[in-house]
Amino acid sequence: MKIIPSERTKNIRYAIRDIGVEAKNLEKAGKKIICLNIGDPLKYDFKTPKHLISAIESTWSKSSSYADSMGIDSAREAVSREAARIGIKGVTPEDTIITAGGSEGIIMSISALINSGDNILTPVPGYPLYNSTVMQFEGKMNEYRLNEEDEWQPDLADMIKKINSRTKAIVIINPNNPTGSVYTRSTLKRIIDIAGEHNLPIFTDETYDKLILDDDFSFTSVGSISGDVPVVTFNTLSKNYLVPGWRAGWAIFSGPRESIGDYADAVKKIARARLCTNSPVQYAIQPALEGPQDHLKDVIRKLKARRDITYKRINEIEGLSVKKPHGAFYAFPRIDVDVESDEVFVRKLLQEEGVVLVHGSGFGRLDEKYFRVVFAASEQALNDAFDKLENFVKKNYM
Ligand SMILES: Cc1ncc(COP(=O)(O)O)c(C=O)c1O
Repeated sequence: MKIIPSERTKNIRYAIRDIGVEAKNLEKAGKKIICLNIGDPLKYDFKTPKHLISAIESTWSKSSSYADSMGIDSAREAVSREAARIGIKGVTPEDTIITAGGSEGIIMSISALINSGDNILTPVPGYPLYNSTVMQFEGKMNEYRLNEEDEWQPDLADMIKKINSRTKAIVIINPNNPTGSVYTRSTLKRIIDIAGEHNLPIFTDETYDKLILDDDFSFTSVGSISGDVPVVTFNTLSKNYLVPGWRAGWAIFSGPRESIGDYADAVKKIARARLCTNSPVQYAIQPALEGPQDHLKDVIRKLKARRDITYKRINEIEGLSVKKPHGAFYAFPRIDVDVESDEVFVRKLLQEEGVVLVHGSGFGRLDEKYFRVVFAASEQALNDAFDKLENFVKKNYM
């Protein structure tokens, strides 16, 4: 007997992890590998704040039962207060769902929104989970450009052009993965206007909201300025609180109840069907959001120094260039050398130099060639990797 996988799984790719498999094989064969492909700060020299570990250590005995499907009270209450702190008005605990990382909220929210053949507007380049989930639920990909010339801000003319009768929502990822861009308040305002004019809700992914690297950039939560436009805000402890393995995230539904109420109920139905998310880790959400935030200063200081190295070193390599990231820990350099694809570039670099990056085409259909660098690695690892990258480009393409 041969079990045939469904058609809808055919187009699901996740380049970030796919390239890692190849790297692992090379490492097993004895090659020295420098990994700049996985957005997990704990793979480098970042540590989970101690008070969060204590917070869950003491909860195991009370968290062996199923939790409430929407999440434990203390977590939902903390998320609703966090919503108020970032300016989203009128959010009660009932307007929140605790999810297994931000990912589960994203998957449930897309699944409750689209029918077969519908599309949601996703950024290109963009975090691949959105498109892979759209494919999983038999939707169609519909990507709007982020504009490299404009520091990777969304191209609003392209966004408007792409809206069609089957478009069901607009996705914003801010701060952005993979470009590290932080969107201006005026850009966000204009996206909200576009969404309002076309009766579309906004899905806003604010996973990196506390990782803003420069004082002259500030984070604006879409739900704080969205007026009557319904918004689903996704967030997670994964990156801001250095616990990606815990799988603790949430979704917030905001906007007029008559617009978003039935839809939020549909997402909640899906949440009930999966019983609950992991109970123990939910006890970390309130201490994370409302306990000491001291670690963030240190994280931002380190990331800023590493961002500066990345920006300087890559722009010094002939044939490569990069816009300065102002948030998260990603940079998205452009490859202007004679190579058939960015995937070939990245795979060849891995084979020859042992440096693991992710090819730009893993983040959507792009006109130019790019790669993503995770600059959460140590200064030493980054400098070693950029020495190798420089050598590789000189040797193969100059
Ligand atoms: C933009 C973005 N959204 C969502 C996620 C998923 O995060 P989580 O670990 O909370 O599922 C990631 C993870 O890298 C991300 O970069």
